[in-house]
Amino acid sequence: MERRAASAYRERFGEDPELVASAPGRLNLIGEHTDYNGGFVLPCAIDRRVAAAVGRSGNELYSANFEETKPLAGEREGSWADYPRGVLWALRAAGHEIPDFRAAFAGDVPLGSGLSSSAAIEAATALALDALFELGTGRKDLARLCQRAENEFVGVNSGIMDQYASLLCEAGTALLVDCRTLEAEPVPLELESAGLALLVCDTRLKRGLAKTGYNDRRTACERAAAALGVAELRDAAEEDLRRLSGEERRRARHVISENARVLDAAAALRAGDFAEFGRLMYASHRSLRDDYEVSTPELDAFVECARESEAPGARLTGAGFGGCAIALVESSRAEELERTVRNSFRDSGFREPAFYRFLPAAGAEVVR
Ligand code: GLA
Repeated sequence: MERRAASAYRERFGEDPELVASAPGRLNLIGEHTDYNGGFVLPCAIDRRVAAAVGRSGNELYSANFEETKPLAGEREGSWADYPRGVLWALRAAGHEIPDFRAAFAGDVPLGSGLSSSAAIEAATALALDALFELGTGRKDLARLCQRAENEFVGVNSGIMDQYASLLCEAGTALLVDCRTLEAEPVPLELESAGLALLVCDTRLKRGLAKTGYNDRRTACERAAAALGVAELRDAAEEDLRRLSGEERRRARHVISENARVLDAAAALRAGDFAEFGRLMYASHRSLRDDYEVSTPELDAFVECARESEAPGARLTGAGFGGCAIALVESSRAEELERTVRNSFRDSGFREPAFYRFLPAAGAEVVR
């Protein structure tokens, strides 16, 4: 991707870029809808990236994927250009004096599937500009700037998980993030030596309603926290649930139980206990399906197929409402599960799914 972005820059602008940075998409292993409740998440970076080639002259943005050039200056317009523009806006709003520049982008993170292509382009832009203009901003601060770009410029009220994963993950590991203190710690994810793989099923259901549903879930959590008199649901415990009812109770039950599962899952990974890790994945899915109500028949069907074929674990991943699900499978049985799921989807009249297999990859990096 880095080479593709550099050659796109050369073709489009007629000179070499000064540097190239790239950043990965992410897969969340467990810890869903916990980040904006001050809780815990456990994502890993995937070996699909967005690269940004940048230089100090000019003031244009070029996407090799969309074969489209956009002016650097501009308001939100609902296109890919919102992400780099948002990052520039956030850096300037934080007091950095950044002159105009130009950039070419190339990426292979699947779009709109819940694998965080948006965080990848934000992180690649932020890291490239940090290096180009020698800002000396730390990774964690860059992640927060990217989140601000997403929240305030792009207009999606997401938590910190995706940007953190893209900027801070390391190869061969998952990243345990405490979304309140923003402390992050790598946790070993040695799948290959355990004969395991992560099979990702993309339902290819674009998440039309996702934004509305996502923001609704957020406000229900805020109502639940207010009713309990705590700052965030992170501070609530299981016994508090008695004091809630209806929707707030179900949403809070998911968040409280999911936070506990993330910590247990990290402990299981450290101990190399993939059976326990998988059990927690299934429990997470049930909670997302029944209490948080963000699953779909397709995501449920995938998890059911995984269970029937005795995969150690499976769950929906990302925000839900479509997008992707993952299964932890024995590598030798991944293809068989893929076939089973394809047949089951065909029989149910679902759209044909896409499958990916990822290894936990490195986070964002600068290539001079
Ligand atoms: C989206 C958001 C994240 C997180 C997940 C749900 O991916 O961008 O911040 O809230 O949904 O876990």
